[in-house]
Amino acid sequence: MPEEKREIKPVEESIGRITELAKKAPELIGVPTGVEGLDELFFVVEYVRNKPKKKPLGGIPLRSVINITGVADTGKTLMAEQFAVKQADLGYPVIFVSVESPGPFVASSLKYRAKAMGVDEKSVDEHVVIVDAASHSILREDVPTLLATIAHAIKKYKTKSVVIDSVTGLYEAREMLARSVVRSIFNFLKKWYQTGILISQKRSGHEELSAEAAGGYAVAHIVDGTIVVSKELITSQRAANLYKRQIGDIVRLFRIDGCRLCGHDTKVRFLEITEEGLVKIGPPISEAQ
Ligand SMILES: Nc1ncnc2c1ncn2[C@@H]1O[C@H](COP(=O)(O)OP(=O)(O)O)[C@@H](O)[C@H]1O
Ligand SMILES: [Mg+2]
Repeated sequence: MPEEKREIKPVEESIGRITELAKKAPELIGVPTGVEGLDELFFVVEYVRNKPKKKPLGGIPLRSVINITGVADTGKTLMAEQFAVKQADLGYPVIFVSVESPGPFVASSLKYRAKAMGVDEKSVDEHVVIVDAASHSILREDVPTLLATIAHAIKKYKTKSVVIDSVTGLYEAREMLARSVVRSIFNFLKKWYQTGILISQKRSGHEELSAEAAGGYAVAHIVDGTIVVSKELITSQRAANLYKRQIGDIVRLFRIDGCRLCGHDTKVRFLEITEEGLVKIGPPISEAQ
Protein backbone atom coordinates (compact mmCIF):
# COMPACT_ATOMS: atom_id res chain seq x y z
CA MET A 1 0.00 0.00 0.00
CA PRO A 2 1.39 3.41 -0.90
CA GLU A 3 2.17 5.51 2.08
CA GLU A 4 -0.51 8.12 2.55
CA LYS A 5 0.72 11.63 2.70
CA ARG A 6 -1.47 13.76 4.89
CA GLU A 7 -0.96 17.26 6.01
CA ILE A 8 -0.67 17.56 9.75
CA LYS A 9 -2.00 20.81 11.15
CA PRO A 10 -1.97 22.03 14.72
CA VAL A 11 -5.37 22.54 16.38
CA GLU A 12 -4.90 26.14 17.34
CA GLU A 13 -8.22 26.41 19.21
CA SER A 14 -6.97 23.85 21.71
CA ILE A 15 -4.23 26.14 22.95
CA GLY A 16 -5.04 28.80 25.53
CA ARG A 17 -3.65 30.77 28.42
CA ILE A 18 -4.87 30.27 31.96
CA THR A 19 -6.33 33.78 32.25
CA GLU A 20 -8.52 33.33 29.17
CA LEU A 21 -9.62 29.82 30.07
CA ALA A 22 -10.31 30.60 33.73
CA LYS A 23 -12.91 33.19 32.69
CA LYS A 24 -14.86 30.46 30.91
CA ALA A 25 -14.99 28.11 33.92
CA PRO A 26 -18.33 28.06 35.76
CA GLU A 27 -18.38 29.56 39.22
CA LEU A 28 -18.14 26.94 41.95
CA ILE A 29 -21.69 26.85 43.29
CA GLY A 30 -23.52 23.92 44.90
CA VAL A 31 -26.64 22.44 43.31
CA PRO A 32 -28.81 20.94 46.08
CA THR A 33 -29.55 17.27 45.47
CA GLY A 34 -32.69 16.67 47.50
CA VAL A 35 -30.87 13.87 49.31
CA GLU A 36 -30.62 14.58 53.01
CA GLY A 37 -27.05 14.47 54.29
CA LEU A 38 -25.44 14.61 50.84
CA ASP A 39 -25.08 18.31 50.08
CA GLU A 40 -22.78 19.02 53.03
CA LEU A 41 -20.28 16.43 51.81
CA PHE A 42 -18.95 18.66 49.04
CA PHE A 43 -16.84 21.65 50.01
CA VAL A 44 -14.43 24.28 48.81
CA VAL A 45 -11.32 25.44 50.58
CA GLU A 46 -11.09 29.17 51.13
CA TYR A 47 -8.09 31.00 52.50
CA VAL A 48 -8.70 33.25 55.45
CA ARG A 49 -5.51 35.10 56.36
CA ASN A 50 -3.59 32.47 54.42
CA LYS A 51 -5.16 29.68 56.48
CA PRO A 52 -7.19 27.09 54.56
CA LYS A 53 -10.82 26.88 55.71
CA LYS A 54 -13.45 24.38 54.52
CA LYS A 55 -16.68 25.88 53.26
CA PRO A 56 -19.56 23.52 52.38
CA LEU A 57 -20.76 23.83 48.82
CA GLY A 58 -24.35 22.89 49.66
CA GLY A 59 -24.69 20.44 46.79
CA ILE A 60 -22.87 19.00 43.83
CA PRO A 61 -20.90 21.53 41.76
CA LEU A 62 -22.97 23.47 39.25
CA ARG A 63 -22.60 22.03 35.72
CA SER A 64 -20.69 19.02 36.95
CA VAL A 65 -21.49 15.56 35.63
CA ILE A 66 -21.75 13.10 38.49
CA ASN A 67 -22.01 9.34 38.11
CA ILE A 68 -23.87 7.31 40.74
CA THR A 69 -22.95 3.66 40.47
CA GLY A 70 -23.96 0.53 42.36
CA VAL A 71 -25.75 -2.82 42.19
CA ALA A 72 -29.55 -3.11 42.07
CA ASP A 73 -31.63 -1.93 45.01
CA THR A 74 -29.14 0.52 46.44
CA GLY A 75 -31.32 3.63 46.03
CA LYS A 76 -29.87 4.97 42.77
CA THR A 77 -33.23 5.62 41.11
CA LEU A 78 -34.59 7.16 44.29
CA MET A 79 -31.64 9.58 44.39
CA ALA A 80 -32.13 10.43 40.71
CA GLU A 81 -35.80 11.18 41.38
CA GLN A 82 -35.05 13.17 44.52
CA PHE A 83 -32.58 15.28 42.53
CA ALA A 84 -35.18 15.99 39.82
CA VAL A 85 -37.89 16.82 42.37
CA LYS A 86 -35.52 19.15 44.21
CA GLN A 87 -34.65 21.03 41.01
CA ALA A 88 -38.36 21.40 40.23
CA ASP A 89 -39.00 22.65 43.74
CA LEU A 90 -36.32 25.29 43.24
CA GLY A 91 -38.03 26.31 40.00
CA TYR A 92 -35.34 24.94 37.68
CA PRO A 93 -36.55 22.88 34.71
CA VAL A 94 -34.89 19.46 34.64
CA ILE A 95 -34.88 16.56 32.17
CA PHE A 96 -35.32 13.01 33.45
CA VAL A 97 -34.23 10.52 30.81
CA SER A 98 -35.73 7.19 31.74
CA VAL A 99 -34.02 4.26 30.11
CA GLU A 100 -35.45 1.46 32.23
CA SER A 101 -38.86 2.49 33.45
CA PRO A 102 -41.52 3.67 30.95
CA GLY A 103 -42.65 7.30 31.14
CA PRO A 104 -45.98 6.84 32.95
CA PHE A 105 -44.30 4.87 35.74
CA VAL A 106 -41.62 7.52 36.13
CA ALA A 107 -44.29 10.22 36.25
CA SER A 108 -46.17 8.55 39.08
CA SER A 109 -42.95 7.70 40.88
CA LEU A 110 -41.84 11.34 40.73
CA LYS A 111 -45.19 12.50 42.09
CA TYR A 112 -44.86 10.01 44.92
CA ARG A 113 -41.33 11.21 45.64
CA ALA A 114 -42.53 14.83 45.62
CA LYS A 115 -45.19 13.98 48.20
CA ALA A 116 -42.63 12.29 50.43
CA MET A 117 -40.34 15.33 50.11
CA GLY A 118 -43.16 17.74 50.87
CA VAL A 119 -42.81 19.34 47.43
CA ASP A 120 -45.87 20.74 45.65
CA GLU A 121 -46.94 18.35 42.90
CA LYS A 122 -47.55 21.32 40.62
CA SER A 123 -43.88 22.27 40.50
CA VAL A 124 -42.97 18.72 39.45
CA ASP A 125 -45.69 18.82 36.77
CA GLU A 126 -44.36 22.10 35.52
CA HIS A 127 -40.60 21.66 35.72
CA VAL A 128 -39.75 17.98 35.21
CA VAL A 129 -39.55 16.93 31.57
CA ILE A 130 -39.45 13.20 30.98
CA VAL A 131 -37.67 11.69 27.99
CA ASP A 132 -39.02 8.17 27.70
CA ALA A 133 -36.16 6.14 26.27
CA ALA A 134 -37.61 2.98 27.80
CA SER A 135 -40.54 3.06 25.37
CA HIS A 136 -38.56 4.30 22.35
CA SER A 137 -35.81 1.86 21.44
CA ILE A 138 -34.11 4.22 18.98
CA LEU A 139 -33.24 6.49 21.90
CA ARG A 140 -31.47 3.58 23.61
CA GLU A 141 -29.76 2.27 20.53
CA ASP A 142 -28.66 5.43 18.76
CA VAL A 143 -26.77 7.98 20.85
CA PRO A 144 -26.95 10.83 18.26
CA THR A 145 -30.76 10.51 18.18
CA LEU A 146 -30.88 10.48 21.98
CA LEU A 147 -28.69 13.58 22.21
CA ALA A 148 -30.70 15.39 19.50
CA THR A 149 -33.85 14.62 21.50
CA ILE A 150 -32.33 15.88 24.74
CA ALA A 151 -31.03 19.02 22.97
CA HIS A 152 -34.54 19.67 21.68
CA ALA A 153 -35.93 19.34 25.22
CA ILE A 154 -33.18 21.57 26.67
CA LYS A 155 -34.03 24.34 24.20
CA LYS A 156 -37.78 23.94 24.46
CA TYR A 157 -37.95 23.85 28.26
CA LYS A 158 -34.78 25.83 29.06
CA THR A 159 -33.55 23.18 31.45
CA LYS A 160 -30.54 23.46 33.74
CA SER A 161 -29.92 19.80 34.45
CA VAL A 162 -30.28 16.32 33.01
CA VAL A 163 -30.68 13.02 34.85
CA ILE A 164 -30.14 9.75 32.97
CA ASP A 165 -31.35 6.54 34.66
CA SER A 166 -29.40 4.65 33.53
CA VAL A 167 -26.55 5.09 31.07
CA THR A 168 -25.89 1.35 31.38
CA GLY A 169 -29.11 0.77 29.46
CA LEU A 170 -27.56 2.67 26.53
CA TYR A 171 -24.79 0.15 26.00
CA GLU A 172 -26.46 -3.06 27.05
CA ALA A 173 -24.65 -6.05 25.55
CA ARG A 174 -22.19 -3.58 23.98
CA GLU A 175 -20.05 -2.82 26.99
CA MET A 176 -16.99 -2.05 24.89
CA LEU A 177 -18.93 1.03 23.79
CA ALA A 178 -19.48 2.24 27.35
CA ARG A 179 -16.67 4.77 27.35
CA SER A 180 -17.53 6.31 24.01
CA VAL A 181 -21.23 6.53 24.89
CA VAL A 182 -20.48 8.18 28.22
CA ARG A 183 -17.92 10.51 26.69
CA SER A 184 -20.43 11.70 24.07
CA ILE A 185 -22.98 12.35 26.81
CA PHE A 186 -20.40 14.10 28.99
CA ASN A 187 -19.28 16.40 26.16
CA PHE A 188 -22.89 17.05 25.22
CA LEU A 189 -23.85 18.08 28.77
CA LYS A 190 -20.84 20.41 28.98
CA LYS A 191 -21.72 22.00 25.65
CA TRP A 192 -25.26 22.70 26.84
CA TYR A 193 -24.17 23.94 30.31
CA GLN A 194 -26.20 21.27 32.09
CA THR A 195 -25.57 19.75 35.48
CA GLY A 196 -25.74 15.99 34.96
CA ILE A 197 -26.57 12.97 37.07
CA LEU A 198 -25.73 9.70 35.34
CA ILE A 199 -26.82 6.49 36.97
CA SER A 200 -24.81 3.40 36.13
CA GLN A 201 -25.36 -0.17 37.21
CA LYS A 202 -22.73 -2.35 38.64
CA ARG A 203 -22.92 -6.08 38.33
CA SER A 204 -22.87 -7.87 41.65
CA GLY A 205 -19.71 -9.81 42.29
CA HIS A 206 -17.46 -6.85 41.69
CA GLU A 207 -15.76 -5.43 44.68
CA GLU A 208 -18.63 -3.65 46.33
CA LEU A 209 -17.53 -0.15 47.15
CA SER A 210 -15.07 0.42 44.36
CA ALA A 211 -16.11 2.20 41.19
CA GLU A 212 -14.43 -0.50 39.15
CA ALA A 213 -17.26 -2.43 37.66
CA ALA A 214 -18.92 -2.39 34.28
CA GLY A 215 -20.68 0.92 34.82
CA GLY A 216 -18.26 2.44 37.23
CA TYR A 217 -15.03 1.41 35.58
CA ALA A 218 -15.96 2.69 32.17
CA VAL A 219 -17.38 5.90 33.42
CA ALA A 220 -15.27 7.01 36.37
CA HIS A 221 -12.41 8.57 34.42
CA ILE A 222 -14.67 10.53 32.12
CA VAL A 223 -17.14 12.16 34.50
CA ASP A 224 -16.37 14.88 37.07
CA GLY A 225 -17.23 12.77 40.07
CA THR A 226 -18.43 9.36 41.14
CA ILE A 227 -20.64 8.26 44.01
CA VAL A 228 -20.61 4.57 44.83
CA VAL A 229 -23.47 2.85 46.63
CA SER A 230 -23.62 -0.75 47.81
CA LYS A 231 -25.68 -3.20 49.77
CA GLU A 232 -24.51 -5.84 52.16
CA LEU A 233 -26.25 -8.67 53.93
CA ILE A 234 -24.72 -9.14 57.35
CA THR A 235 -23.73 -12.78 57.66
CA SER A 236 -20.85 -12.71 60.13
CA GLN A 237 -20.37 -11.55 63.69
CA ARG A 238 -17.43 -9.50 62.49
CA ALA A 239 -19.61 -7.52 60.10
CA ALA A 240 -22.32 -7.27 62.75
CA ASN A 241 -19.81 -5.75 65.17
CA LEU A 242 -18.41 -3.42 62.53
CA TYR A 243 -21.76 -1.98 61.57
CA LYS A 244 -23.35 -2.41 65.01
CA ARG A 245 -26.20 -4.30 63.38
CA GLN A 246 -27.55 -7.84 63.70
CA ILE A 247 -26.72 -10.87 61.60
CA GLY A 248 -29.36 -11.04 58.87
CA ASP A 249 -29.73 -7.25 58.60
CA ILE A 250 -29.13 -5.44 55.33
CA VAL A 251 -26.90 -2.38 55.31
CA ARG A 252 -26.62 0.02 52.45
CA LEU A 253 -23.38 1.98 52.14
CA PHE A 254 -22.34 5.16 50.39
CA ARG A 255 -19.04 6.76 49.44
CA ILE A 256 -17.92 9.64 47.24
CA ASP A 257 -15.27 8.00 45.12
CA GLY A 258 -13.94 11.23 43.68
CA CYS A 259 -14.82 14.69 42.44
CA ARG A 260 -12.30 16.69 40.48
CA LEU A 261 -14.10 20.02 40.82
CA CYS A 262 -14.13 20.47 44.58
CA GLY A 263 -13.24 18.91 47.92
CA HIS A 264 -15.41 16.10 49.25
CA ASP A 265 -15.95 13.72 52.12
CA THR A 266 -14.18 10.38 51.63
CA LYS A 267 -15.70 8.23 54.37
CA VAL A 268 -17.83 5.14 53.92
CA ARG A 269 -21.25 6.09 55.28
CA PHE A 270 -24.56 4.42 55.93
CA LEU A 271 -27.23 5.00 53.30
CA GLU A 272 -30.75 4.71 54.60
CA ILE A 273 -33.95 4.33 52.59
CA THR A 274 -36.88 5.60 54.62
CA GLU A 275 -40.31 3.93 54.60
CA GLU A 276 -41.66 6.63 52.30
CA GLY A 277 -38.88 5.82 49.86
CA LEU A 278 -36.35 8.59 50.39
CA VAL A 279 -32.59 8.11 50.44
CA LYS A 280 -30.73 9.73 53.33
CA ILE A 281 -26.98 9.74 53.83
CA GLY A 282 -26.06 8.82 57.37
CA PRO A 283 -22.96 8.92 59.56
CA PRO A 284 -19.66 7.23 58.69
CA ILE A 285 -19.58 3.52 59.54
CA SER A 286 -16.78 4.29 62.00
CA GLU A 287 -19.39 6.13 64.06
CA ALA A 288 -21.96 3.29 63.89
CA GLN A 289 -24.25 3.05 66.89
N1 LIG B 1 -41.78 3.82 49.37
C1 LIG B 1 -40.79 3.29 48.66
N2 LIG B 1 -40.73 3.49 47.35
C2 LIG B 1 -39.75 2.98 46.61
N3 LIG B 1 -38.74 2.25 47.11
C3 LIG B 1 -38.74 2.02 48.42
C4 LIG B 1 -39.74 2.52 49.26
N4 LIG B 1 -39.46 2.16 50.50
C5 LIG B 1 -38.35 1.44 50.43
N5 LIG B 1 -37.90 1.34 49.19
C6 LIG B 1 -36.70 0.59 48.82
O1 LIG B 1 -35.92 1.26 47.89
C7 LIG B 1 -35.49 0.37 46.89
C8 LIG B 1 -35.50 1.09 45.59
O2 LIG B 1 -34.24 1.51 45.32
P1 LIG B 1 -33.95 2.01 43.84
O3 LIG B 1 -33.62 3.44 43.94
O4 LIG B 1 -35.03 1.64 42.91
O5 LIG B 1 -32.68 1.14 43.59
P2 LIG B 1 -31.73 1.05 42.34
O6 LIG B 1 -32.15 2.10 41.38
O7 LIG B 1 -30.39 1.27 42.95
O8 LIG B 1 -31.88 -0.34 41.83
C9 LIG B 1 -36.56 -0.69 46.84
O9 LIG B 1 -36.03 -1.91 46.43
C10 LIG B 1 -37.02 -0.76 48.24
O10 LIG B 1 -36.26 -1.68 48.94
MG1 LIG C 1 -32.85 1.88 39.42
